Amino acid sequence: MFIKITLPLIVTVRTFPSFVHHLKTLLSSSLQVQKYLECFHLPLEKLQEISARLKKDFNRGLGKHTHHRAAVKMLPTFVTATPDGTEKGDFLALDLGGTNFRVLHIRVNEDEQRVMKSQNCAIPQEMMVGTGEQLFDHIAACLGEFVNSQDLKGQTLPLGFTFSFPCEQKEIDKSILIRWTKGFNCSGVEGEDVVKLLKEAIHRRGDYDIGSVAMVNDTVGTMMSCGYKDQSCEIGMIIGTGTNACYMEELKNVKRVEGMEVKEGENRRMCINTEWGGFGDDGALKDILTEYDEEVDRTSINPGIHTFEKMISGMYLGEIVRLVLVKLTQEKLLFNGETSKALLTPGTFETRFISEIEKEDKGVENTKKILADLGLTSNAVDLHIVRLICDTISSRSARLCAAALATIVNRIRVNRKLDHLKTTVGVDGAVYRKHPNFSEELQDMVRRLAPQCDINFIVSEDGSGKGAAMVTAVAQNVCILVYLLHTNVLTPTLPHSFSTFPPQTAQ
Ligand code: BGC
Repeated sequence: MFIKITLPLIVTVRTFPSFVHHLKTLLSSSLQVQKYLECFHLPLEKLQEISARLKKDFNRGLGKHTHHRAAVKMLPTFVTATPDGTEKGDFLALDLGGTNFRVLHIRVNEDEQRVMKSQNCAIPQEMMVGTGEQLFDHIAACLGEFVNSQDLKGQTLPLGFTFSFPCEQKEIDKSILIRWTKGFNCSGVEGEDVVKLLKEAIHRRGDYDIGSVAMVNDTVGTMMSCGYKDQSCEIGMIIGTGTNACYMEELKNVKRVEGMEVKEGENRRMCINTEWGGFGDDGALKDILTEYDEEVDRTSINPGIHTFEKMISGMYLGEIVRLVLVKLTQEKLLFNGETSKALLTPGTFETRFISEIEKEDKGVENTKKILADLGLTSNAVDLHIVRLICDTISSRSARLCAAALATIVNRIRVNRKLDHLKTTVGVDGAVYRKHPNFSEELQDMVRRLAPQCDINFIVSEDGSGKGAAMVTAVAQNVCILVYLLHTNVLTPTLPHSFSTFPPQTAQ
């Protein structure tokens, strides 16, 4: 691990003795601090090992007899086609998943997906842990207000619903919530069909209606919206409040879905929502979990669930940093051994502080301000150590994501029996977007872990909302084709990926 030393470059003769003293203090505390940070260090070989473990978990999640108990769920999405550029129409989109809930009106035509209007709605903290009925009534009310304000009341537009939690998708408009993540814990929703809950809430109001609904995970939405621009986009990845990825898997490997037989020589694919956040829930990551990760898990609202996500995503990174800061202060390696009430309060060190502290130009200034706001008195050495801690924890997150993404690209390459794979990943999420060097570190590392893959990364704009509209549009295209086939208007020459959509039987 590097120790980045950021000291004033201009040292005059007068300031030289104090500079040397400063340097000595800095080096000696840095070395002591390094010992505490070693547990976060993941060298290349360890990442290769982690990727190999995830590969096994992917197979377990896809297996007919193993998926029930698998930590990495590998959920079939029934999205069997990426956009082909012919999709058109007006759509409503709902995007529920992280800290924000959005309603969008989207127009899709030959050359763009345009957000005509969008509106953010807050979800109060109490509602995140209240009853499901309250939550869906609130969503229906926000949607109603939006439909009204946009004069869309008379039209029953199709709705793309991005619901970014692990769901067992039965059909494109039937999706059972397996469990809540990311701070949500509304009663009466786990085990239920969320599309039905949404429709019931809209019917309870009775003042507007919606057309057909397509449900998607945000990773799928991201992949689909990027896929509109770049048709080789076949992976969607989110590193925001939570983390997850989806990718196009060979249908013949998706053993857990019945009724989708693939004939010899056919290359049909289905998008799989990996739910990689659950990696490690069976103890597979025990050797790399630190005491800080264990504490974050213990104090979360869902202990034992989404172990990998808790080491990586925005909901947890700030808290890991806070716990390390507390530890090092208690060990008298920071702030002269003096903590503050704010530092000792869970949740006070926000993940966005990490990005602000690690900024190349304003980092030092930002660190001073953040620490002062937390009631901490810091000197130059403290500032350096705090930055080192942030760097260590964000870097571990980027490297773990790289290991997981490498598992996917290597898998796609092997699936297709290619020596070399060229592919595109659509990405979204505040950690990836906002951190000054997260994306660079992730990309460098994934290239080292998957040397036979040439990966292009596209950051998606409004990805999950637009993507939900795209899924709805693709589904409509497919439904029109299936309908035309049924009514014998078309001869049965559907593109291979469309032919069994929507599925008849799903487990
Ligand atoms: C959820 C995923 C989602 C991810 C990113 C996770 O907590 O389980 O479904 O894709 O967060 O939003």
